[in-house]
Amino acid sequence: MPWRNTDDPYRIWVSEIMLQQTRVDQAEPYYQRFTDAFPTVHDLAEAERDAVLQQWEGLGYYSRARYLHEAAQTVVREHGGTVPSTYDGLKSLKGIGPYTAAAVASIAFGKAHGVLDGNVIRVLTRVFAIEEDSTRSATRRRLQALADALVDPDEPGNANQALMELGATVCTPRNPACGECVLEPVCEAADAGHPERYPVTPES
Ligand code: ADE
Ligand code: SF4
Repeated sequence: MPWRNTDDPYRIWVSEIMLQQTRVDQAEPYYQRFTDAFPTVHDLAEAERDAVLQQWEGLGYYSRARYLHEAAQTVVREHGGTVPSTYDGLKSLKGIGPYTAAAVASIAFGKAHGVLDGNVIRVLTRVFAIEEDSTRSATRRRLQALADALVDPDEPGNANQALMELGATVCTPRNPACGECVLEPVCEAADAGHPERYPVTPES
């Protein structure tokens, strides 16, 4: 994944916006094209909106591109062209919610925030056999606290990405590969023999 080979906060930000609704393998060529067209936050800020939307074509969810463009202009106008390095500073930008703020703060700036996406929610609810409805906001808060507490403070970016990738490749919704999973020795759902029971939702 090309965004693993950079420490440029702008590029990591672009990749995480794309990965909000697009799978890693689908996002990759778009990431390459987009960062070739707009190599820096200044290039993006100065671009015409139509040129930005054109580079986004095929990715869908075009509000992501509009917000990213607006946020780039804010970074240039209000932050001297430097991407904010804190969770709160990132979250103040258009299009950056708790998930993307935690991802960029941890991957680009080494801040110990846990990233909670669908893959991470599945892994955590299985490892800790969380019986509460995972769609409830109280459960989300509990899961966020768990993710924040578990992230390796020495390598938060790698820790978060490892957990996301484990959920995408090993701890899959159906037929998780528990026999090949590094967390199997500590996983309550695997121990009980019913990983697919988690995450619990109102429909399950
Ligand atoms: N999904 C969203 N961001 C990701 C990342 N940085 N690595 C793996 N999967 C992701
Ligand atoms: Fe998921 Fe199985 Fe690993 Fe537990 S042991 S985290 S259920 S893959």
